[in-house]
Amino acid sequence: MKKKSILAAVAAGALTLGLAACSPAGGGGEGGGGGGGGLVGVAMPTKSSERWIQDGEALKNQLEDAGYDVDLQYAEDDIATQVSQIENMVTKGAVALIVAAIDGTTLTSVLEDAAAGDVAVIAYDRLLRDTEAVSYYATFDNFLVGQQQAWSVLNGLGLTELDGTPIDGAPAGPFNIELFAGSLDDNNAFFFFEGAMEELQPFIDAGTLVVKSGQTDIEQVATLRWDGETAQSRMEDILTANYSGGDQVDAVLSPYDGISRGIISALEGSGYTTGEEWPIISGQDAELDSVKAINSGEQYATIFKDTRDLAEKAVEMTVAVLEGEEPEVNNTEDYDNGVKVVPSFLLDPVIVVQDNITSELVDSGYWTEEEIG
Ligand code: BGC
Repeated sequence: MKKKSILAAVAAGALTLGLAACSPAGGGGEGGGGGGGGLVGVAMPTKSSERWIQDGEALKNQLEDAGYDVDLQYAEDDIATQVSQIENMVTKGAVALIVAAIDGTTLTSVLEDAAAGDVAVIAYDRLLRDTEAVSYYATFDNFLVGQQQAWSVLNGLGLTELDGTPIDGAPAGPFNIELFAGSLDDNNAFFFFEGAMEELQPFIDAGTLVVKSGQTDIEQVATLRWDGETAQSRMEDILTANYSGGDQVDAVLSPYDGISRGIISALEGSGYTTGEEWPIISGQDAELDSVKAINSGEQYATIFKDTRDLAEKAVEMTVAVLEGEEPEVNNTEDYDNGVKVVPSFLLDPVIVVQDNITSELVDSGYWTEEEIG
């Protein structure tokens, strides 16, 4: 955000705080924090994936506790809906927007209108591209997420430890692997895939891993809107075209649990059964059904990104901007949105396999033992 805008945002914040102090009930949110901080718009992409529901709830609770009113909206992966939801938030007088975009390039004009009205904009988990109108970015280390997805696959095959350290006397393979990436309109998809390929490529070059379909470019392996059914049908096509002659798929790089579930359905549909021959499959988000699938051995690993911590970071950033302070960031290099490098805070993702479900997910209260079953 430009200095002028920051000053204006501070003034706007001070004004709303001042007004709130005069209003009898403090104007507030439901969270008991007293309210009065003003309205914060939270734009989430879809409810079709559990993680965004948790993100939305965590953001709403934490913002309300900090004294803000919250307009939380989900756009069901429809770009026009998300644009109009954000327009509405601005019309309602939002002082800040926290946005997880469906397509990071489509919000330029609505965000520029918001910024012109001195609304602070925080990119949430997904980078907002091609716009000046984004102040800060709260996310996880997305390149590391991709590396961890690769390491989980390599670990499942007995080739490396979970941190990527090579294992002495590892099997020579060759192992057949197929690759999936996320949605090309989501900047994260590139970070995940590039991180993963940095780790997998040496094994492909050495002939330890073989991609029988030959599909190794992100454009070939991408999955529009991260859709599980789209992934399922691509996996079905790959199985029919490349594995009908008796060859086995040994591993699948999957960037997201919903895609992993599509891949699992395709494998089951073509006669694979869990056990010795079942492929190693990665994932992301620690969604409940996929944690169950890790427990039952259908999925090897997921990447756990604690949405409560991400929400906390985004709320800290929002409050800091509104109060005219500089939020804490730890990366000012990697997230170039095409117009500027957006100052970012990257949280650490964690690989979850069968062995650490309890310590990572249950002990932290993310899921209960009963939910996992
Ligand atoms: C998020 C992932 C998520 C994916 C699909 C990405 O932008 O970083 O956590 O799996 O979107 O929703």
